[in-house]
Amino acid sequence: MATLKLLLLPGDGIGPEVMAEVKRLIGWMNKHGMERFETEEGLVGGCCYDAHKVAITDDTMAKARAADAVIFGAVGGPKWDSVPYDARPEAGLLRLRKDLGLFANIRPAICYPALAESSSLKRDVVDGLDIIILRELTGGVYFGEPKTITDLGNGQKRAIDTQVYDTYEIERISRVAFELARKRRNKVTSMEKRNVMKTGVLWNEVVTQVHAREFKDVTLEHQLADAGGMQLVRWPKQFDVIVTDNLFGDMLSDVAAMLTGSLGMLPSASLGEVDPKTRKRKALYEPVHGSAPDIAGTGAANPIAMIASFAMALRYSFGLGNEADLIDQAIAAALARGLRTADIKSEGTTLVGTTQMGEAIIAELEKLAA
Ligand code: IPM
Ligand code: MG
Repeated sequence: MATLKLLLLPGDGIGPEVMAEVKRLIGWMNKHGMERFETEEGLVGGCCYDAHKVAITDDTMAKARAADAVIFGAVGGPKWDSVPYDARPEAGLLRLRKDLGLFANIRPAICYPALAESSSLKRDVVDGLDIIILRELTGGVYFGEPKTITDLGNGQKRAIDTQVYDTYEIERISRVAFELARKRRNKVTSMEKRNVMKTGVLWNEVVTQVHAREFKDVTLEHQLADAGGMQLVRWPKQFDVIVTDNLFGDMLSDVAAMLTGSLGMLPSASLGEVDPKTRKRKALYEPVHGSAPDIAGTGAANPIAMIASFAMALRYSFGLGNEADLIDQAIAAALARGLRTADIKSEGTTLVGTTQMGEAIIAELEKLAA
């Protein structure tokens, strides 16, 4: 059995609390000889700023490059609101995404039957929902230059962000979308705003061409991103894979999160290109929720998105689909037993904290694995 090297970056706020449950799970898997994981830990975000005055160090970046996968918690909090822009906690995450070339961000939104009541939408709208938001992650307005605030000298300032996409960036994210769809319900919906944005015009054109050239067997639809947002809350089951740019993907995936009951439920995988020599790809796994400073340190955070992110690492980085399925089933079973963290609490269920939820998932895993 090969040793799989993980770099754990718990980060700030509830990050370390939810990461503790992943460590428990890794310990359990190692003990049961399921795999041999070797873990290292590093600082990222505000905690790294406090120690080193940067959001991530070169040393940690080198460890991230050497790891088979990076498991990331969350960054940020009001404590760091006034640190220099380049050293703000989020800069650590953005550097990881950019420097590791993690262009494909897979954000599944799955509504567990037990949680259909926790969504703010009606049960029949979300019950059984299983869609993927595929977000482009290393381009667009997040990284485009110029990105400046200039003093115009007349009491006015001018702020500029630049939305920019090249053909190859749209081609490679489209291919990931079509390949994902082929293993699911074979449908891709591309979202942009070609009615106002040049990047939207190019996005639409390139997705259409890749489809016609390489993926004719997959159904392709286009929606304007604003209308897509509306459709996402109107009837989300019309979608299978939604592919969209960095900023629209950021917003639409938060919307999708609420379809599942809580932001605390949504895992994600960020993948780089497959290296033709090693067949490996760089990858980072993180829950979509943030650092939730309001509940940090109270032991109330929902660890499910973090644990499900680890399951995605098993699936996408290590080819351990069966083990990933087991973890997903264990999560569903713990929920079916009526256990709920505060964010997904509904009437007639039992309130538990972060640790209890983590332990309950492992207890279900024990049963499933036996
Ligand atoms: C996300 C987050 C990040 C983003 C922040 C923390 C920089 O909102 O992963 O969705 O905007 O990409
Ligand atoms: Mg976001």
